[in-house]
Amino acid sequence: MHPVTTSLRGKVALVTGANTGIGLVTARELARAGAKVWVACRSQAKAEAAMAEMRAAVPDAELVFLPLDLGSLDATRKAAHQFLASGDSLHLLVNNAGLAGFQGTTDDGFEIQFGTNHLGPYLFTRLLLDRVIASAPARIVNVASQGHYKSNGIPFDKLREKTRTVTGFPEYCDSKLANVLFTKALAQRLQGTGVTTYSLHPGVVASDIWRRLPQPLRWIAMRFMITNDQGALTSLHCATSPSVAEQSGLYYDKQTEKKPAKLARDPALAEELWLRSAQWVGLAP
Ligand SMILES: NC(=O)c1ccc[n+]([C@@H]2O[C@H](COP(=O)([O-])OP(=O)(O)OC[C@H]3O[C@@H](n4cnc5c(N)ncnc54)[C@H](OP(=O)(O)O)[C@@H]3O)[C@@H](O)[C@H]2O)c1
Repeated sequence: MHPVTTSLRGKVALVTGANTGIGLVTARELARAGAKVWVACRSQAKAEAAMAEMRAAVPDAELVFLPLDLGSLDATRKAAHQFLASGDSLHLLVNNAGLAGFQGTTDDGFEIQFGTNHLGPYLFTRLLLDRVIASAPARIVNVASQGHYKSNGIPFDKLREKTRTVTGFPEYCDSKLANVLFTKALAQRLQGTGVTTYSLHPGVVASDIWRRLPQPLRWIAMRFMITNDQGALTSLHCATSPSVAEQSGLYYDKQTEKKPAKLARDPALAEELWLRSAQWVGLAP
């Protein structure tokens, strides 16, 4: 039994971070349902290996590689322009790529979790937005995390410096709060366009995201996690289920709508994040 039950023939999807983990399964299952899938990754070698793996499972999969490094605003602009130049529609944008547990900054000097998990995807989405609207009905899915419940807010004064904590976990949680807030702000702006937005927690998944966790802790912890196939179910639900077609701006867990953290429901915070993000990436609000 495959998770996507509706036909996506004639549809175009783009999945970021599709070379491994939840993103690979998401891309593979969208392709299995008939979508043409853009595999947007920072490593061409990894993307090609992943596309070979997807084709082994889905021989007629229509896959296209798009070079995308979300840790660089310049590279993100290039990727968006390359996609737009293809002339393709964009019915399903899945902002899946993300990292956790790193220290440092992005190429543009933003805290690495915030820059990669929020600011890059914010810019990428905004640059693709007109194409998504022109392709409506269309959906934008942002893979967030239950980690957002642990965030104390968006630390606007600490985002243009390297990671302060040793684990990078508080910064990760803040970046995931940003994903939920962005989804909400985007939904508001897209009202009446036929484009709907979704944020979600995929579950605690035995993917590469735990690569920074020291051994043997990683090995032990991963034994209790769900598989990447299970971890992709909520992304696929948000991207394709007819049952959520009329919903927008909401947060999901285990393929069910769930109330996000109080901070994630703060419209003023969502608006401030949108405006500051626009300023940082050089776009009009
Ligand atoms: N696994 C979990 O338990 C869990 C829980 C909650 C939320 N999530 C979220 O689920 C999403 C998918 O994560 P995963 O668990 O599948 O992790 P993963 O296996 O580590 O995959 C993450 C993907 O993001 C890509 N990526 C990282 N930095 C990038 C950049 N600068 N530019 C472009 N792509 C980049 C990675 O590429 P490389 O292979 O080149 O590094 C990889 O393809 C993430 O947003 C994560 O925060 C995961």
